[in-house]
Amino acid sequence: GSTPRVLSGIQPTGDSFHLGNYLGALRQWVALQDTHDAFYCVVDLHAITVEYDPEALRRRTRVSAAQLLAMGVDPERSTLFVQSHVREHSELAWILGCLTGFGEAGRMTQFKDKSAKQGTGGPSVGLFTYPILQAADILLYTPVPGAGGQGFQVPVGEDQRQHLELTRTLAQRFNHRFGETFALPEAYIPKATAKITDLQEPTAKMSKSSSSPQGIIDVLEEPGSMRKKIMRAVTDTGTEITYDEEKKPGITNLLRIYSALSGSTTGDLERQYAGAGYGSLKKDLAQLVLDTLTPIRERTEKALGDEEQLDRILARGAARAGEVAARTMEAVRDRVGF
Ligand code: ADP
Ligand code: NA
Repeated sequence: GSTPRVLSGIQPTGDSFHLGNYLGALRQWVALQDTHDAFYCVVDLHAITVEYDPEALRRRTRVSAAQLLAMGVDPERSTLFVQSHVREHSELAWILGCLTGFGEAGRMTQFKDKSAKQGTGGPSVGLFTYPILQAADILLYTPVPGAGGQGFQVPVGEDQRQHLELTRTLAQRFNHRFGETFALPEAYIPKATAKITDLQEPTAKMSKSSSSPQGIIDVLEEPGSMRKKIMRAVTDTGTEITYDEEKKPGITNLLRIYSALSGSTTGDLERQYAGAGYGSLKKDLAQLVLDTLTPIRERTEKALGDEEQLDRILARGAARAGEVAARTMEAVRDRVGF
């Protein structure tokens, strides 16, 4: 067909996604289903590159999938699956790893950032090679040239650009060495996604590793707690509601969230709240956040409540993804001499 394919993954590292994940990434997944042949993957193989608990991983993988469904990822219109259910990811990662230079892998800056945060045992080899697994995640689903020719896109933020470059390099190297096998994936730059910052530390990004839970809004959080966090968000000196990243990072973050959820521009909001106090902006924003996240939380609970249905959806996704992945691996295995 003429619809470009897209692939995106998210790690099941927490018991809930946060508002930053939703506005910065997951909401776009839902929108991309309209324009793309979408493959969405809960990347549990990536989640084991750092210390973890198996039971927690199993639970978080399901909670992640349930939240994606609740947000609007539609298994009838996209392929939603769990990475470890499609064994080809690990197999292709090994082959690509054998094509990657040790020094080349060592130049990945994300590893340097992440390995610095690893505790007692130090960083694992898996953490070191995870960009190669990421390359495999992508290349399994890139159509072999000539077999359709539709484009293949990967939504990437700044921090992932280097990994997509590595993916393209490995695809080219494979093609050169063993014959045309992979199409080169392109970066898909989603139109202006909101960067959400921490409610208590508004110059730092909202992150599951934030220093205080008061700074993060979880998608599955209780409404009362959500409201309190927004009402207690750090604001700036002065009283005027203006968008100013430098001088008013707290209010600016609230305006950005408001804008992302309402569709009003931050300029519209400045005009709407001219002369109003911070409290009234916060009160309205809290309501808006609740109106958006409450149905998602309820649908997540419902999806988790029907285990068989969730299993069925994920099994169907794995079968569909597995079919494409198996076809790719058949060509790969043949070309590398297996
Ligand atoms: P975290 O920073 O909480 O560890 P991840 O790194 O797992 O989150 O990010 C998952 C996805 O959510 C990525 O696409 C990332 O760009 C997006 N994302 C994470 N935090 C934010 C944020 N504060 N604002 C916007 N997007 C975010
Ligand atoms: Na990630």
